[in-house]
Amino acid sequence: MKAFEWQGYRFREGEWVMLDLYGTNHDARRFHAPDRFDPERQISWTTQGFDFIPQGGGEAELTHRCPGEAFTVELTKQAIRLLTQGMSYEVPEQDLTLDLSRIPARAKSGFVMRDVRPISHASKPIMRTRLLPDQRISAAIREQRQLPGWQETAMAAVMSGTVTSIVTTAALALLARSEGRSAFQPTNATSHWLHGENAGRVRIADARHTLLGYCTHHLSAIFWALPFEAWLAAGHSKAPTTVLRKAALTAALAALVDYRLVPKRLTPGWETVLSKRSVGATFAAMALGLALGGMASRKWHRPPQGANSTSRHLTRRHQPE
Ligand code: HEM
Repeated sequence: MKAFEWQGYRFREGEWVMLDLYGTNHDARRFHAPDRFDPERQISWTTQGFDFIPQGGGEAELTHRCPGEAFTVELTKQAIRLLTQGMSYEVPEQDLTLDLSRIPARAKSGFVMRDVRPISHASKPIMRTRLLPDQRISAAIREQRQLPGWQETAMAAVMSGTVTSIVTTAALALLARSEGRSAFQPTNATSHWLHGENAGRVRIADARHTLLGYCTHHLSAIFWALPFEAWLAAGHSKAPTTVLRKAALTAALAALVDYRLVPKRLTPGWETVLSKRSVGATFAAMALGLALGGMASRKWHRPPQGANSTSRHLTRRHQPE
C-alpha cells in the first residue's frame, strides 16, 4: 500500500488498516441502542452500504465486501428455521457472554442444548434454499427426520385399514342396492372361501356369512394398508395429493392381485354378486378409504413434542442484550 492521507489521517507505506466491524456495527450514531438485541431492527442487508457491515462495506462487485454474504444470510435463515421449527430442545443455564478477544467471537459455554429431538412428520420440508442443490438439502432433512418405527406404522395401518373397510363396505352395500341386490350380499359373498360359491346368494345378515365376510374383508383391508402406510412413512411429502396418489396405486395393485394373481377361492367374492363396473367402483372406494385413513393416521401419530410445546427457557441473565 502506498502512503496516503485521508481525512487528516496519515497512512505510511506498509502500514496495515483494519476495518472495525464491531465498532461500526455498534455505532450509536447509526443505530439506536446498538447493544440491544432487537430482531425487528430495520436493517436491509441488500443496501450494500457502509453502516451495517458484518461482512464488509460497499458493493461486493466493486470493493472487498464479502462475496459469500448471500450464502451466509441464506444459511443463517435456514439455521434459524431449523432451530425454531425443525427440532425441539431445552436450553439449560449457561454462559452466553461473548469474548470479543477471540476470532471468531463465540459464546463462552458455546450454545448448550439438551434433550434435542428432531420434529418428525414435519408437513413441510424443514429446509429449502435457492442457493444449495435441492437433493443435498432433502437428503439432510431425511437424515434429521425421525422415521416412524414399525409399531407406529402397524398402528397406522390398523387405523387406515379400518377406515378403508368401513368405506368399502358402505360402497358395496350401496352398489348392491343399485343393482337390485340386498346390501349384505357382497359382504356375504366374501365368506365364499369357507362356504363356497353360493355364499353371495344369502340376502340376509347372519354371523356365518356377514360376520365372517366382514372380518375377512377387514383383515384384508389392514393387509393392504400395511404397505401403503410403510410407503407413506418412507416418503418425503405428506401432501393430500401424494397420499391420494399412493392410495390409488395401492388399490390398483390390490385389484390386480385379487383378480389376476390369487386363486379363485381367495378373491373378494364381490364378482359373484356385482357387475364388473361396481367391483371397479369398490376399488376406487378403497383408494378413497386408504387416503382418508392415511391422512387421519398421520395426524393421529404425530409426536406431541411440536415446536410450540417445546420447553425453551433462555435465561434472562445470559441472554445477549
Ligand atoms: C459468517 C460468515 C461470514 C462472515 C462474517 C464474513 C465476513 C467477511 C469479511 C468481514 C470480509 C472482509 C471484507 C473487507 O475486507 O472489506 C470477507 C471477505 C471475504 N469473504 Fe466472507 N464472511 C463470511 C462468509 C463467507 C463465505 C460463506 C464465503 C464464501 C462462500 C466468503 C468468502 C469471502 C471472500 C472470498 C472474501 C474476500 C473478498 C475480497 O477480498 O475481495 N465469506 N468476509
